[in-house]
Amino acid sequence: MSNAKKKKHVIWKLWLKTRARVMMMTVQKTPTLLTGAGSMKLVPSELKVHKARKPLIVTSPMISRTETMSRLKAILSDANVPFEVFDRIYPDVSFEQCENGLTLMREAGCDAVIAIGGGSVMDAAKLIRMGRTHGRPISSFAGVGKCRNEGSPLICLPTNAGTGSEATVISVIRDEKTRKFTMVIDPKLPADTAILDPTLTVNLSPGVTAITAMDAFTHAIEAYTNTLHYSESDVQAAETIRLIFANLGKACANGQDVAAREALLRASHLAGRALSRGYVGYIHAVAHRFGEFYRVPHGLANAIVLPYFLEIYIDVCPQRLAELAATSGICNDLPEDDDPACARIFVNAVRSLLRDMAIPEKAKFLRKDDVPRIAQAAIAEVRQMSYPVPVILSKEEMEAILLGMIAGEGNKERPA
Ligand SMILES: [Fe+2]
Repeated sequence: MSNAKKKKHVIWKLWLKTRARVMMMTVQKTPTLLTGAGSMKLVPSELKVHKARKPLIVTSPMISRTETMSRLKAILSDANVPFEVFDRIYPDVSFEQCENGLTLMREAGCDAVIAIGGGSVMDAAKLIRMGRTHGRPISSFAGVGKCRNEGSPLICLPTNAGTGSEATVISVIRDEKTRKFTMVIDPKLPADTAILDPTLTVNLSPGVTAITAMDAFTHAIEAYTNTLHYSESDVQAAETIRLIFANLGKACANGQDVAAREALLRASHLAGRALSRGYVGYIHAVAHRFGEFYRVPHGLANAIVLPYFLEIYIDVCPQRLAELAATSGICNDLPEDDDPACARIFVNAVRSLLRDMAIPEKAKFLRKDDVPRIAQAAIAEVRQMSYPVPVILSKEEMEAILLGMIAGEGNKERPA
């Protein structure tokens, strides 16, 4: 790399880090955390804590038909809590769907929101309750720091362990017109209460369990390898990695393993909190494009992209990967300098986990013609969202990584 290019990269890195730090210096809402099998029964008492009389349940058509939803309705009815249901949130939720939920919330006179579902449901619920107290279109929240008040009370009940959306300062919404993902980032966005009830996740298939967990795993890796190092988010990210290594196989082998399910929900939540301080990076920026261009599920897209960037990070931040290896019990001899051996052992362990979860090694759906546009858009996301990435990649470098994904180049296991 030429000296001029090196200098430009250093300036970019400093700028992204400074912007990210300024944006995240504000106090972030931290949800009250209730956990354990059967903890869903605590919803009525939490509504009382928040002085809410009539909640709107926000969910997807699929969850709406489940036994879990029947249980939630029964819990509310037994406690004499009136409620309304909005069950038209679909994967890759749009602003329009959020607006429809907000309209029902207003018409039904609801004063709180209960989100029961995955990332799209919780992302939507976070904005519906903001729309209720702001009196302006939900699309106007797009960008950073647009919330002026706390919104209506929100209780989140995640039904998979992946996005950790109940804890994050981010909602990802698809713009119907452009079909692109839009970010809403605000420290007031996290739920007021997060209820992590593992019985809500015991019926997930091994495939869904794996790809949702890999989303949380990627949140933690990106937050940890980024250049903003907060002691709290470091601990949260490292604990996420440890919990997933220790429990994902168990939860996939036996879906009814409540202890493993609870550990994964905790991992997802911790990763959500870690990324709210430490951000995500290139892996998510590329995964978002795979979702936009080819409708690849978010967790799966992250899982496919992950090893390609980890391979680069072995040279960029070996110490950080070695620390993750140590906290996960994979490599106990932490190197004193930037010796990459321990980092490589960690990356090989991640590859082995991905293989066990049957994650494809190549991005076979990726079309060569799309590579320049995907590279450009991924780099633009990193810059616009100020992800404090550990290395600045040029468009050409990003294109080379993407082309490697088609053939599986750049994802080869090497001995430590
Ligand atoms: Fe994610």
